[in-house]
Amino acid sequence: MLLKKLAGVVLLATAITVAGCGDGNAVSGGGGTGADDGKITLGFSQVGAESGWRTANTKSIQESAAAAGIDLKFADAQQKQANQISAIRSYIAQKVDVIAFSPVVETGWDAVLQEAKAANIPVILTDRAVDSEDKTLYKTFIGSDFVLEGQKAGDWLVKEYEGKPGPVNIVQLEGTTGSAPANDRKSGFEEKIKADPKFKVIASQTGEFTRAKGKEVMEAFLKANPKIDVLYAHNDDMGLGAIEAIEAAGKKPGTDIKIITVDAVKDGMTALSEGKINFIVECSPLLGPQLMDLVKKVKAGEQVEPRILTEETTFTQEQAKEALPNRKY
Ligand code: AHR
Repeated sequence: MLLKKLAGVVLLATAITVAGCGDGNAVSGGGGTGADDGKITLGFSQVGAESGWRTANTKSIQESAAAAGIDLKFADAQQKQANQISAIRSYIAQKVDVIAFSPVVETGWDAVLQEAKAANIPVILTDRAVDSEDKTLYKTFIGSDFVLEGQKAGDWLVKEYEGKPGPVNIVQLEGTTGSAPANDRKSGFEEKIKADPKFKVIASQTGEFTRAKGKEVMEAFLKANPKIDVLYAHNDDMGLGAIEAIEAAGKKPGTDIKIITVDAVKDGMTALSEGKINFIVECSPLLGPQLMDLVKKVKAGEQVEPRILTEETTFTQEQAKEALPNRKY
């Protein structure tokens, strides 16, 4: 009888430990809920590891949690919404103090966010937004204005071709389909160029924010379109992949085809300083320190601003040369 009871306890303990691990998420972080050591426990569901930006963002979150004495449970969703939903459900089951996540796509979050709310666990959105009507489902959203980023890219292009004849044939490498940065960077850019009919987006396709896919799609663009004047890539990584395709096709990136990207990670800034990219709109991944402050505040029941915007700039080739030596990511 005693043996049976002991076996039951072991089975239950095992089930709790694996919650969240068998669902496609790559999980790291300490066990337990954090309630026992007095530390705040934060469950964080990351989009994936698709780009240099994402790697820098993950590093910022992990380092800031350690510095702030916050017990971080971290899961990499490999760009799949289903994995993020499983991770969030696992954090709810583990009764973490706060949940934060960067939603891979904008739609489809209401049900799981309602579950977190019902469990009294505050949620913070980082980097990307959700399209939920009910704003009480999360405490705050910290991240960039992606529409503004697209507008900055469009403004640069309009100025660059001021007084020059058209047509200007543009190809666009979009981010992950359905993601906030892909939707907003596209709409912001198109809003700025639409006033002048000489700007023509002749092809636009997702490159999933990765270098490999950016290269593959650019190869197809080059084969299908004999005259491409401009490439607008929604992040540096896709732009860097596209540069490989352009060079392989015997063309000079930055000269034969002008290139605009978003992020300003070191590899992108290096290509910009070498003249292979023409303009980069910055998107800062260093959200960790601010996120940890917010985690402490929402755990303490303090009011926080519903929207916290990241400060960002843009870089020309000259500015990239100056900024590169001190670039942190
Ligand atoms: O959500 C931010 C975007 O996601 C970055 O611009 C891109 O590089 C990343 O994958």
